[in-house]
Amino acid sequence: MIKIDISRILDFIPQSEIKVLEPQVKDAILKLENGSGAGNDFIGWMNLASKTDSGLIDAIEDTAKVLRENCEVVIVAGIGGSYLGSRAVIEALSNSFSQSVLDGKNPQILFAGHNISEDYLFELAEYIRNKKFGIINISKSGTTTETALAFRLLKKQCEDQRGKEMARKVIVAITDAKRGAARICADKEGYRSFIIPDNVGGRFSVLTPVGLLPIAVAGFDIRHLLKGAADMETLTTSSTPFEDNPSAQYAAARNALYRSGKKIEILANYQPKLHYLSEWWKQLYGESEGKDGKGIFPASVDLSTDLHSMGQWIQEGERTIFETVISVDKVKHSVLVPSDDENLDGLNFLAGKHVDEVNKMAELGTQLAHVDGGVPNIRITVPELNEYWIGQLIYMFEKGCGISGYVLGVNPFNQPGVEAYKKNMFALLNKPGYEEESKKILSRINK
Ligand code: PA5
Repeated sequence: MIKIDISRILDFIPQSEIKVLEPQVKDAILKLENGSGAGNDFIGWMNLASKTDSGLIDAIEDTAKVLRENCEVVIVAGIGGSYLGSRAVIEALSNSFSQSVLDGKNPQILFAGHNISEDYLFELAEYIRNKKFGIINISKSGTTTETALAFRLLKKQCEDQRGKEMARKVIVAITDAKRGAARICADKEGYRSFIIPDNVGGRFSVLTPVGLLPIAVAGFDIRHLLKGAADMETLTTSSTPFEDNPSAQYAAARNALYRSGKKIEILANYQPKLHYLSEWWKQLYGESEGKDGKGIFPASVDLSTDLHSMGQWIQEGERTIFETVISVDKVKHSVLVPSDDENLDGLNFLAGKHVDEVNKMAELGTQLAHVDGGVPNIRITVPELNEYWIGQLIYMFEKGCGISGYVLGVNPFNQPGVEAYKKNMFALLNKPGYEEESKKILSRINK
């Protein structure tokens, strides 16, 4: 199983401060299990991995097959929880350079609908011109502006480029069962569609069709992903002792650190493929915990890259941070450092070593330096990057997030704060229904 090591936070907080949280953590797990905590109408994610109907998995795989057979490129249109999970998994498992038309086997997965950049949308349209492309339009509400705008453009281009009939075959909607523009459009056009369960919020939806369909289209084994998550589900229930439950240990450690004044958690990886896993994690913890004037600020770095940009701050900046490192035990490929007769670069001391050995020493050296510099360190070890272990990691973080939110004393399953910018944006764009807001905002900015 994935291992979590919290021993390197014990120089900063005594074990007793973690132990003291044990009853609260246990209580949080029970609340999640019996649905008695805040936001209990959004805890459907808890058993997705173990309870997903095999008919649904078959349907996802069938649809993935249609897209794989008919598309060189598949664009996932979605934002926040509607794209970060699939992107995290696809990037973690893909070849760094050829998850694309280049390898001839898998369609290239691209993402849109997560920004409102005209240049991005123009350049995407140019890139897919004359390519056989399909779209997976993902929006739980079905009304998110970023996604709806990108979909409007992509749908038109798909119909113009591939014809209405083929477009109908290669556009798939993943949305609410009944509500929202994405549902209305899917039903009217006769697209294949999947439902996002009512009781699963966006940032917890990677193990629903939201994540599973794009991941399957990219050529990865969603059954293994679900198996990994299901095994972690079993390990993180109330029947596992506190010390053996990785989600409980993680939630307790980070809350104890937060209470001791460590307000920022930096998730660090040493594999660039994990960049989007950190983006997904930031949304999961940021949206779940940042409310009521509370919450650990989730930040991330890709190492050793960012040691040359953020390293100074981490080593010697304000001591309000702690670090959680995702360490991957075994890499996929083998690259040995060659010996060089002239040794002009002075690197012969590394000759014969695997590059990963150098990376691991960078990791250990950094961990020790950061601890010496006053940064508590949590270490999560993942045996290797495949579907099964990523499934475990995803569930470990989701469960840790639910527990941690309850220990912190917030409802981890709502996100009231994300509406504020939308109201202003709609008022500024004169959206019908926002006339009063428009007047208010215009007088405010013209002052
Ligand atoms: O976690 C969440 O609920 C959000 O991040 C949503 O996923 C995001 O805002 C996109 O919403 P929707 O799927 O309704 O377009």
